[in-house]
Amino acid sequence: MTSAASSHAAAHVAESAERRWTIIVVAIVAVLVAITVVTGLHWAAMPPSRVETVDVKTLHLKGEFVESNLGTELAADGKVTVRLVAQQYSFQPQCLVVPADTPVTFRATSTDAIHGFVVGTTNANTMLVPGFVATFTTAFRKTGEQLMPCHEYCGTGHEAMWARVQVLPRDEFLSKARGAERLSCVPGK
Ligand code: CUA
Repeated sequence: MTSAASSHAAAHVAESAERRWTIIVVAIVAVLVAITVVTGLHWAAMPPSRVETVDVKTLHLKGEFVESNLGTELAADGKVTVRLVAQQYSFQPQCLVVPADTPVTFRATSTDAIHGFVVGTTNANTMLVPGFVATFTTAFRKTGEQLMPCHEYCGTGHEAMWARVQVLPRDEFLSKARGAERLSCVPGK
């Protein structure tokens, strides 16, 4: 083979390798664009299935979020539910009690502006929108006290808006919650 012929062959190999990679890269980009379009259309066409609303004007007067029903409930079947209300600039109750290593369902709403909360460094994190009930279920692995700050800017008092969450060992929680109406760690409640 002459050197001209071999360089011609090398150029041919390089060219077909480049063409192959072009096809692969274009295919990857096409797949990514298709995923974006399909998921976008899917979510636009199917909004979240459980949207729960609540009347802000009668929230304090009747229904699930009256004051006497706020705090932690231990149901007869062992289910643990925490109900709380956010308003400028506090949470009610100000201190929550939950058991460790147990599924805990939070149900919360806001009476005025958009608030939100996150419990310490856990994944318990939600927005609270007036007129809607935010709900999620989580379990706390570590016992001890966690801070629960509001994490949506809600006005001049935003940075002072926070609550505490006491995660008790499961047995201690069960003995406290048994027979109690609703549990919280606010003194005198
Ligand atoms: Cu409530 Cu920020």
